[in-house]
Amino acid sequence: MSILKISRLGHPSIRRGTEPVSSEELHSREIQRLIDDMVETMRDAHGVGIAAPQVHVSKQIIVIEISPENPRYPNQVAVPLTVLLNPTITEHEEITEEGWEGCLSVPDLRGLVPRWTRVKVSGLDRQSQAVEVDAKGFFARVIQHEVDHLNGKVFLDRLPDLNTLTHLREYEQFWKR
Ligand code: NI
Repeated sequence: MSILKISRLGHPSIRRGTEPVSSEELHSREIQRLIDDMVETMRDAHGVGIAAPQVHVSKQIIVIEISPENPRYPNQVAVPLTVLLNPTITEHEEITEEGWEGCLSVPDLRGLVPRWTRVKVSGLDRQSQAVEVDAKGFFARVIQHEVDHLNGKVFLDRLPDLNTLTHLREYEQFWKR
């Protein structure tokens, strides 16, 4: 496995959008290796999720893993490693909730983003089995953030109020609860 370079906002891969992974591709060594590398890259960067466009690949792949010990987003409910290919949000709660988000492709910034409090997502796992994920709270937030990446969107596009945009150090100093 290897740690991949993370593309930052401004790199065309972040805005390009993505293609679904075909079933032939899914079983290829390249895609399986890419998934392993995405997991390693996410863990190395202390991310709670990463999407393929963030490692310069315009395919519909996201990986998520949340640990209460994560230094970037501490004290969140744990979510085991989840790999989703071609994910689609099929249902969602109408209620939204604001929460602080950052992004490995938008380093050193945080902003208050409204997200649906609960989503259902269908897609494939890395063995090509159909999966449905029912996520709420922070997990639902991370899923929406990563699915946005597949559509060329970043959390900045979802900020209703740019006044909440803050650098990480100032976030720690003034905004962290
Ligand atoms: Ni992101």
